[in-house]
Amino acid sequence: MRSVHVRAASKEYDVLIGKGAVSSLGTEAKKVCPGALKALVVSETNVAGLYLDTVKKQLSEAGFEVSEYVFEAGEQHKNINEIAGMWNKMAEAGFTRTDFVVGLGGGVTTDMAGFAASTFLRGIKVIQLPTSLLAMVDASVGGKTGIDIPMGKNQVGAFWQPSLVLEDTSFLKTLPDEVFTEGMGEVTKHAFIMDVELFDKLEKANGSIRDDEDLLEEIVYMNVADKASVVSEDETDNGRRQTLNFGHTVGHVIERDSGFTKPHGICVAKGMGIVIDACVRAGTLGSSEAQKMKDLLKLYKLPVSDEITPEDIVKGAMNDKKKRGDTLSVILVNKIGNAEIKKMTAEEFLKFLSA
Ligand code: GLY
Repeated sequence: MRSVHVRAASKEYDVLIGKGAVSSLGTEAKKVCPGALKALVVSETNVAGLYLDTVKKQLSEAGFEVSEYVFEAGEQHKNINEIAGMWNKMAEAGFTRTDFVVGLGGGVTTDMAGFAASTFLRGIKVIQLPTSLLAMVDASVGGKTGIDIPMGKNQVGAFWQPSLVLEDTSFLKTLPDEVFTEGMGEVTKHAFIMDVELFDKLEKANGSIRDDEDLLEEIVYMNVADKASVVSEDETDNGRRQTLNFGHTVGHVIERDSGFTKPHGICVAKGMGIVIDACVRAGTLGSSEAQKMKDLLKLYKLPVSDEITPEDIVKGAMNDKKKRGDTLSVILVNKIGNAEIKKMTAEEFLKFLSA
């Protein structure tokens, strides 16, 4: 099993990656949650049918009293009512501060399990067990937790680092193709902003990493290592972590305008494509580098544009939580593997997008 150590300012923990990693859940949980008697497994309807029994068995055999909270799958359920359901489950089961939550699922689940853990009894431990590519390479690592409100995605939440992330790459076998493709949005993002080696590996793999288990595990590992290095330097998004938002400022607007029906990773890919084009027009990115980036997105069946207008992007982005005062931190890539943060007012952002 591969391992990445995250050194966030508030907490250090391991991300364990490998085929069959779930079989070490009981042992690992006992190590990172000493004194715990109870565990709440949070999952959603699609994933629960596949893996909930295995996870509960692992935990019960390790001696924990296990309860579950399963919500209807989908971003539209990432709300406060479901969190209240989780709080109530834990209260009814008599959870104390040493007990813990397990998030079993994609990014919606790991974000919500983390948020429920961060708020119950002012904070209990959470172990993340991501099942989607997107959650493995991004959402489950780094402690961003939260829910959506009608005004926007992830507008309410907390930084709450997990005590352990266990990534069983064999879970990826059951992912529908479109969900796997969505995860590639975040994988390509890491390659663009910080990892030339990953870029080259993805290019060489020629669009097919799914069927090669060893390559897939290596790619997941490289992404987790990238994410861990960023979070270890800047846990709370005040500096380098903002570069992980490449494509997100635009992507979040597209996602929200679709009523959260368009997948996050697909919207991020569209956002990256739009920003790549704008960088070329602004003269900050060479056109051949830009073409290589867009070719990589297309190789992994990701879109590179959207019909949204620059005016609508700016209007939507000005409500985004990434806005500080009256400026936005827009993430640009000036060459493959190198991102920069540029502060822009609404007027500057509009000019950048429409030039
Ligand atoms: N998904 C971006 C971050 O964790 O900062």
